[in-house]
Amino acid sequence: MDRRPCTLLIIGGGIAAYKSLDLIRRLQDRGMRVRCILTGAAQQFVTPLAAGALCGERAYTDLFDPQSEYDVGHIRLARDADLVVVAPATADLIARMAGGHADDLAAAVLLATDKAILIAPAMNPRMWAAKPTQRNLAQLRADGVHVVGPNAGEMAERGEAGIGRMAEPLEIAAAAQALLDGGRRLGGKRVLVTSGPTSEPIDPVRFIANRSSGRQGHAIAAAAAAAGAEVVLVSGPVNLPDPPGLTVVHVETARDMLRAVEQALPADVAVFAAAVADWRPQRVSESKIKKQRSGAPTLELVENPDILSTIAHRKSGRPRLVIGFAAETDHVLENAKTKLGKKGCDWILANDVSPATGIMGGNINTVHLITAAGVEAWPPQSKDEVARKLIERIANAVADDKP
Ligand code: C5P
Repeated sequence: MDRRPCTLLIIGGGIAAYKSLDLIRRLQDRGMRVRCILTGAAQQFVTPLAAGALCGERAYTDLFDPQSEYDVGHIRLARDADLVVVAPATADLIARMAGGHADDLAAAVLLATDKAILIAPAMNPRMWAAKPTQRNLAQLRADGVHVVGPNAGEMAERGEAGIGRMAEPLEIAAAAQALLDGGRRLGGKRVLVTSGPTSEPIDPVRFIANRSSGRQGHAIAAAAAAAGAEVVLVSGPVNLPDPPGLTVVHVETARDMLRAVEQALPADVAVFAAAVADWRPQRVSESKIKKQRSGAPTLELVENPDILSTIAHRKSGRPRLVIGFAAETDHVLENAKTKLGKKGCDWILANDVSPATGIMGGNINTVHLITAAGVEAWPPQSKDEVARKLIERIANAVADDKP
């Protein structure tokens, strides 16, 4: 069974329809399955053959097509989608949506769907500014329809410029993704996330820490909450606000973090993004250690508990999906693969944290996702995007036991 979220793309009849073919790809890049409907007017600009070839399945065109009524039907097309995107949304299609028409396949599906609808209007600036269009748009907004664009710029008609250009495919795909993420795909699931460094005291004023900012872990917790999960974020000391809509447990040491994690179980998914200190001073001095003539003090270190490994090896109450991070400076992939087995987790996100990458403490992350199925290289992207992509993958993996 195809577990990817399904976006139903309705292509309207405007010159911007040529960009909708690229939009199919951009939606697929984000892990979505795309199905297409072309209106009659759309077929003046692009063909069902081109759309179908890009989607990997036939494109739909006709309300009264006996074949599609037999294998899917317009009601199922509407219901099977997780999201409906209309691009380009022409003035006419917007008017027909606002009027509740159902006289072609696109209009009937738009009327029959109970899923979020995103429209990307595209038309001549005068048509966009026209009172009927703005009235219809206000009606659609009031009905809960989401709108992306239009942008300002050159029109297809020579010498015409103004507001009316369809939003770029990348913008539309990002807006679609945001709607899907907010689509509560993790509704009813409990997600546990660790984040930030730990701080291991030496004496009342000194401690051992590391450069982790907590940005990636916090972004993952926020993205899980946006997807409807009940989230517990166990965070070491960070300079970040608590993300809204989830429970945050603040800890200092690795041992505190382990306790807080165990208390937060059971969870369906656990993501261990914290940079836990591997060692802590064996003895914590009760008073500030003074300089001594005899020379520098020797710090005896003992190993901290490995939180990820402890939870991943639990005989009972192990989260269904346990995900670790491997921040490495050398032989990133080999080390990460070894870690997957040693720590007993299901997935590892590996990243190269050599100082030159700027990843530790920065906003951009370049990761590889390592699973039993193999290694996937993700392009450099913001930590928020990494988080959204990971949550999408998690939602796909745990989707079959939805409540
Ligand atoms: O062994 P290493 O520290 O490189 O492993 C990194 C992964 O293990 C991360 O997911 C981190 O959160 C987790 N970890 C842990 N407890 C430790 C050390 C690492 O949970 N004591």
